[in-house]
Amino acid sequence: MKVNTAEFVISNTDYKLCPKDDIPEFAFIGRSNVGKSSLINMLVGNKGLAKISGRPGKTQLINHFIINKQWFLVDLPGYGYAKASKVQRDKWERFIVEYLTNRKQLNNIFVLLDSRLDPQKIDLEFMNWCGEKQLPFSMVFTKIDKLSSSALAKNLAKYKKEMLKYWEELPPVFTTSSESAFGKEKILNYIDVIIKDC
Ligand code: GTP
Ligand code: MG
Repeated sequence: MKVNTAEFVISNTDYKLCPKDDIPEFAFIGRSNVGKSSLINMLVGNKGLAKISGRPGKTQLINHFIINKQWFLVDLPGYGYAKASKVQRDKWERFIVEYLTNRKQLNNIFVLLDSRLDPQKIDLEFMNWCGEKQLPFSMVFTKIDKLSSSALAKNLAKYKKEMLKYWEELPPVFTTSSESAFGKEKILNYIDVIIKDC
């Protein structure tokens, strides 16, 4: 898929206020600072679309973007941001859970995972929760430019091993770098196939 247009639509904290259009939707989620906004900008080829920050917790709302006037891309706040207050964290968690479980047109959740880290409890818990709720998801490893290919292979193997403790098979797995645009075509083509099937 070629991205011709990518436009911001609306930000909010209530799934009921999300756009009503019944078009395919794809959400990006993961721990704070994992690189969600950077990945979105890389995919659509616009560095300024989603706000990026060196500080974790930058994205605090459900952000809808419309791509090629055909599908919604959604940038979500990061989970597990340790420095946010408990009240703030609970609030985010509640509206993200409500959004994920109620949004009928949501076709796939891209769960971003930092390729430099060992499997994180919070990520495994989140993916298992998606499974329980029967929400389709894929694993997207980010920042692969920051480690060697052997270190990457080792971390991917650890993740796969951990996931196979809970799952019979793995969901789709993507490896990406927002610096080099590695993984861009694969993710966009994956979205394209789902859209054509809708
Ligand atoms: P929150 O909105 O705070 O939850 O963060 P986020 O997940 O949207 O992360 P964001 O895209 O803002 O990136 C966080 C930091 O990681 C920024 O300093 C980015 O420049 C950096 N970063 C993101 N992706 C990559 C990547 O693929 N490679 C490298 N080297 N740095 C990256
Ligand atoms: Mg962000």
